[in-house]
Amino acid sequence: MGLGEWWDEHAVPRLVRLGCGSEHIMDLRRQVVPQARGRVFELGCGGGLNQGLYDPALVSGLAGLDPSGKLLDYARAEAAAKGWQADIRQGFGEEVPFADASFDTVVCTFTLCSVNDPARVLSELRRVLKPGGVFLYAEHGRAPDPEVLRWQERIEPVWKRIMGNCHLTRPVTAAIGEAGFVTSPIARQYMRPGPRWAGWMEWGTAVKAGE
Ligand SMILES: C[S@@+](CC[C@H](N)C(=O)[O-])C[C@H]1O[C@@H](n2cnc3c(N)ncnc32)[C@H](O)[C@@H]1O
Repeated sequence: MGLGEWWDEHAVPRLVRLGCGSEHIMDLRRQVVPQARGRVFELGCGGGLNQGLYDPALVSGLAGLDPSGKLLDYARAEAAAKGWQADIRQGFGEEVPFADASFDTVVCTFTLCSVNDPARVLSELRRVLKPGGVFLYAEHGRAPDPEVLRWQERIEPVWKRIMGNCHLTRPVTAAIGEAGFVTSPIARQYMRPGPRWAGWMEWGTAVKAGE
């Protein structure tokens, strides 16, 4: 195994668990994830950091998808510890292996930055969401301030190579809207502490447009 492969397989999952598990990020998750209800699908469920925030009284089933074997180990261990009978699969959000309209809630946190094709992923999330279902999102992305955006553009080429394809400049709420959702943002702001180029956060809920 080369250094790059070792880094992606072993170092990145640990860094993801560490960074995504920080108290500030967990505070942000708490504003979104507990709203999940019914049959829930979590894209990019690796790490399992949301699992403790689902309300067992409201969630009737949990399914998840993530390409990272190492992060799935964490997610499965977390599910066992929390007592979830979860259907956690390895795969990519560009081809979600679940039927149309099979979930009441779709959850996506800090994952759209890392997928290969965000538009295709969002179309898949829309497909598996039931009519009347809710999409819960919390993501970091493209900063609104030109000066910060310039730093994001400078850093992104290196960052995505060392951080598991994590992009800094992707729009969040706008992309969700373009994918056929009506969004209800909870907030969009820089997370403190931390550098602004890595800290522009957008989180909220969305439903399918036209419903
Ligand atoms: C920064 S981590 C966030 C993990 C988790 N969603 C959270 O909130 O802690 C990004 C996640 O996206 C996953 N990922 C990368 N490419 C993906 C893809 N094409 N489809 C689904 N998940 C993907 C990674 O394996 C990783 O688990």
